[in-house]
Amino acid sequence: MKFRHAESMPQLAALDEDSSGDEFTANTPSATPTATGAALGVTTHYPSTVGLSAMCSSTSSSSSMDDDSIESSARRASALSPHIGYKKVLVTGGAGFVGSSVAAYLLERGDDVVIVDEMNDYYDVRIKENNLRRLREAYPDKKRLAIYRGDICDEDFMLTLFESERPQWVCHMAARAGVRPSIQDPYVYIHSNIRGTTHLMELSHKFGVKNFVFASSSSVYGGSNSTFFSEDECVDNPVSPYAATKKACELLAYTYHHLYKLNVTGLRFFTVYGPRGRPDMAPFKFIDRVSRGFELQQFGDGSSSRDYTYIDDIVDGIVRSIDRPYPYQVFNLGKGSGNSLKEFINIVEKHVGRKAIVKVLPDQPGDVPYTCADVSKAYDLLGYSATVSFDEGIRRTVQWYQEEYVKNICIEPETQANGMGRAPSFSEIRSVMRA
Ligand SMILES: NC(=O)c1ccc[n+]([C@@H]2O[C@H](COP(=O)([O-])OP(=O)(O)OC[C@H]3O[C@@H](n4cnc5c(N)ncnc54)[C@H](O)[C@@H]3O)[C@@H](O)[C@H]2O)c1
Repeated sequence: MKFRHAESMPQLAALDEDSSGDEFTANTPSATPTATGAALGVTTHYPSTVGLSAMCSSTSSSSSMDDDSIESSARRASALSPHIGYKKVLVTGGAGFVGSSVAAYLLERGDDVVIVDEMNDYYDVRIKENNLRRLREAYPDKKRLAIYRGDICDEDFMLTLFESERPQWVCHMAARAGVRPSIQDPYVYIHSNIRGTTHLMELSHKFGVKNFVFASSSSVYGGSNSTFFSEDECVDNPVSPYAATKKACELLAYTYHHLYKLNVTGLRFFTVYGPRGRPDMAPFKFIDRVSRGFELQQFGDGSSSRDYTYIDDIVDGIVRSIDRPYPYQVFNLGKGSGNSLKEFINIVEKHVGRKAIVKVLPDQPGDVPYTCADVSKAYDLLGYSATVSFDEGIRRTVQWYQEEYVKNICIEPETQANGMGRAPSFSEIRSVMRA
């Protein structure tokens, strides 16, 4: 299925100084730190610039004025120009999948990065250590890349960090992720996600942060019946504790914007995958299990469809948001089209070069049946549009799996977390909250 606004995307590419429509252009560094980036020392700055004003005038004259395009034009007229130039960015959850990928991009374009991560064991910590090791090897200078290990809820620790580092830009990716484990143990989610985000916003307004961008999730759409999930939808019915924590963060973010004029943007990611992806998620699991000749589990009849978003596209959307300090916004970041589970398995089989052994199981409680992003708002206000097809993204992920993961990491499937049954790092939380 194709997103209905997708046809207009090539117009953006032509006007976008940051993207010629070819995701390998020099202006769009990959999310992977490279030897070149490490050697830079670096003064380069990729502005994630979209000629939005140019885009507005160009598209407004040519588009047919149906309701959507009128709304789009009005939105584009209020689009902010990106802040171009050096930033010191605090990236929370910077050892994780998305956080480490954003950190690599920011460092490569010339920004300095401060990472904070508690390195919890939601999935195998060696994967997170490997992410940090790659970044450190590429950027040995501690002034360019500072790494702190600790809990974002730890008040003394975080206050000291803000006092010494003084980050002006915050990219808050730290969270307990995963829907099913949150049903099993909601308390640790409330701690890291709600308390953690509140604490960071408290510090951000006190230290005059210019823009606070945080990860929300498509899970907030819960049991919505819409085909394309739009930010305008009411999302008051989260169907898992994880989704509820993300919705709570969006509400608190509004409060911090209202009370303190903190610029806050929440990004609803739609199933992110790619090299160094999370081992508890289907794209990694399917590639891993098909490659090893192990059975994989298909929940439902295979017709359920999701919007899988390649990591480089998500990083692009995050950086575009960091560069544009909107007072308060929520954006969907997805590919804008869905792929069925059956299609997904076929694509994995094609790139792995092996037939999958599939065990069909009933649908899981808490899972949303269909997720597909309406990305028109992100397109209008950020100039965001995904460029990597699912087939190409899986091809690249399989390539990473075979060339890097199998050779250097290759953790036994039994020790890879599915997020369940692992001791939470904050086991004391439950007793504290019950007291
Ligand atoms: N990957 C996806 O498909 C997806 C989809 C929707 C939303 N998200 C959100 O995007 C963000 C990044 O996800 P990810 O896939 O990189 O997950 P991840 O688990 O790989 O990364 C999150 C990191 O945050 C750290 N962390 C958790 N609680 C912390 C705390 N209290 N203090 C310090 N560090 C803490 C973890 O150790 C981990 O390294 C999360 O907020 C997640 O909820 C991800």
